[in-house]
Amino acid sequence: MTYVPNNARYQSMEYRRCGRSGVKLSAVSLGLWHNFGHIDPLENCRAILKTAFDAGITHFDLANNYGQPAGSAEENFGKILREDFRGYRKEMIISTKAGWTMWEGPYGDWGSKKYLVESLNESLKRLGTDYVDIYYHHRPDPETPLEETMSALDLIVRQGKALYVGISSYQPEETQRACAILKELGTPCLIHQPKYSMFDRWIENGLLDVLEAEGVGCIPFSPLAQGLLTNKYLNGIPENSRAARHLGNGAMEEDQITDANIAKVKLLNELAQERGQSLAQMALAWVIKDPRITTVLIGVSKPEQVTDSIRCLENYSFSGEELDRIESILK
Ligand SMILES: NC(=O)c1ccc[n+]([C@@H]2O[C@H](COP(=O)([O-])OP(=O)(O)OC[C@H]3O[C@@H](n4cnc5c(N)ncnc54)[C@H](OP(=O)(O)O)[C@@H]3O)[C@@H](O)[C@H]2O)c1
Repeated sequence: MTYVPNNARYQSMEYRRCGRSGVKLSAVSLGLWHNFGHIDPLENCRAILKTAFDAGITHFDLANNYGQPAGSAEENFGKILREDFRGYRKEMIISTKAGWTMWEGPYGDWGSKKYLVESLNESLKRLGTDYVDIYYHHRPDPETPLEETMSALDLIVRQGKALYVGISSYQPEETQRACAILKELGTPCLIHQPKYSMFDRWIENGLLDVLEAEGVGCIPFSPLAQGLLTNKYLNGIPENSRAARHLGNGAMEEDQITDANIAKVKLLNELAQERGQSLAQMALAWVIKDPRITTVLIGVSKPEQVTDSIRCLENYSFSGEELDRIESILK
């Protein structure tokens, strides 16, 4: 049966301007790091993407190495794009990245122009698209001159293979330098993708100020600390949860579910209940409450999690008292 998207999808979602650019992103974006590889059921991937698009999510985040095996998330997304979303490419913002190890030898990692250009060519083949909307350098490279990495991003835009560029996990000072180089090249930095959640607050120490001053958007990843900031681990480690799957590659492991963390999660869960939200919704609301955050980048293992998480937009204001209580729980 041909997929017909929900007609009302743009009414229920909020769209926020990305920094001082011309483009707006859905306030919730969907990432395909996990659960979209060849090891995962394709029909679940399809159902998640349809649920997200029906709810007004326009931004889908990928990287060259997403999925197991690496690259398979792009392949599956490309397949579903062709089979179900034909005609809707223009309504989507699709991103991909390069920066982590992708293939053997000296040109399959880090930040050389060679790697970034070759990797995007491969990503476009897997995705089956002519261009991506956003191309990121995935992590800073201490050895390659920043000028080379940024000029690779600029080149790719000039080649028409990406419309915008971004950086991920760059520290404040290197973000400032990257923005200055890109500005001079005539391809401004659109967006920064850092890790950020109640459990990881590093971007509050300078990065958000830099992004605001530079007019660059912010899309925090792992806003639920990979699932820890939900009620799922309150009574042990459920089968099929991310922690139980031992996926490697930065995925959370059981040893992150410590008694100290769970004690905090319990208290946060009580507050969420008082606010009439699930803990996942409150944790996402807490991220999106800051106007410097453009969109919160969620990951899901099933369509119901999209529906649940997206309701964070129903209430993302916090009283001073609630914020103080959160701070004292997190201390
Ligand atoms: N730039 C980078 O270096 C980088 C690094 C990491 C991630 N990312 C991006 O950020 C995206 C999101 O990262 P993430 O997957 O770690 O995000 P996350 O939102 O912190 O964690 C997602 C996991 O939380 C659980 N979950 C989600 N919604 C839930 C709900 N409503 N109720 C209960 N549990 C829920 C699910 O766990 P279960 O699987 O256990 O059900 C899901 O797989 C990635 O897909 C990727 O696009 C970027």
